[in-house]
Amino acid sequence: MQTLILAGGKGTRLRPLTLHTPKPVVPIANRPFIYYQLDLLRPLDVTGTMEVLLSLSYQPRKIEEVLNQEVLGGLVVSPVVEHQPLGTAGAMRHIRSRVTGTLIVLNGDILTDIDLRPVLQRHQRRRAAATLVLVNVADTRAYGVVELDAGGRIRQFHEKPAPGVTTATSINAGIYLLEPEVLDLIPEGCEYSFEYDLFPRLLTSGLPLYGDITDAYWLDIGTPERYRQANTDVLQGKLRRYPPESSPALTDGGSVIAPEVTLKGGVSVIRSVIGANCYLEDGVHVVDSVVMAGSRIAEGAVVRSSVLGRGVHVGSNSILHNVVLGDKSVVTDFSRLG
Ligand code: GDD
Ligand code: MG
Repeated sequence: MQTLILAGGKGTRLRPLTLHTPKPVVPIANRPFIYYQLDLLRPLDVTGTMEVLLSLSYQPRKIEEVLNQEVLGGLVVSPVVEHQPLGTAGAMRHIRSRVTGTLIVLNGDILTDIDLRPVLQRHQRRRAAATLVLVNVADTRAYGVVELDAGGRIRQFHEKPAPGVTTATSINAGIYLLEPEVLDLIPEGCEYSFEYDLFPRLLTSGLPLYGDITDAYWLDIGTPERYRQANTDVLQGKLRRYPPESSPALTDGGSVIAPEVTLKGGVSVIRSVIGANCYLEDGVHVVDSVVMAGSRIAEGAVVRSSVLGRGVHVGSNSILHNVVLGDKSVVTDFSRLG
């Protein structure tokens, strides 16, 4: 089996967190995000033959650095660097010569606990050329909306539709199973989008295209709000694969604190994630927040519903509420932000 993870985007909507860190490396509950995606693929690797192609373009070295042998645990991961971004379908065409059978494609920013095995079985049983995993969401505006017929075949695809274009609520979850013939429809060597270019073409091709609706946990982590949500959801055990008791360190039962963290007297950490080498001085309160590695929060400061990037310094007695700070931000003593 082969999987392509599309991890070449710049993560613009997740700035400032993605200025120095590509989306696959941004941590969720202190684990690089890509580890959660690799976990999805392990159950499919029964015969030890799963090859994971990682399509990279933005800061590829940083992604390669987090993929050591211990993490991979037998999965074979091959980075494929695009010297210029080729678009979501261009990235698929780029690896066409290596594809030998059904290809799984994952958008590199979706957190889910879906079991892909039954999806693969249905794809094969239906002899589909392409199966798109779909999820139902209340607000479809940021996604690709997919209309199905009664037999589960895809009739229409509307990427980020304007209001009133469709009443369907099933969206493209960014997980595809594709047969090689689909990749042959993508022109070579140019930027080409799966959503805007390839999919309309597939619809007119007459190939059997199916939607497979899942009720698994699913979230696109690509904005600061959803990034914080992803951390909270993992902490609360909303993903079947990651029960809260599997976390290495918990304080109030709802937080994850890296082992190399200093917590001084009277510190409280509630429903939050604290990264490695952070230093929280006396009386600091961190609530519903993510504090990335190497940050220092001086005495008496309060951080609520916020995300602090790496190496942030929050001055004493500051109050932060609902803010997102990029790496190395400095907040002076007694500041009030948010
Ligand atoms: N290799 C490569 N090259 N990857 C790319 C490129 C590129 O040029 N452009 C984007 N990607 C990767 C991104 O890194 C991301 O993992 C994935 O493709 C999707 O790009 P996003 O920019 O996050 O797209 P989106 O969230 O607006 O919309 C997509 O995902 C939704 C679900 O989360 C679409 O596929 C929607 O239809 C879908 O509903
Ligand atoms: Mg996205």
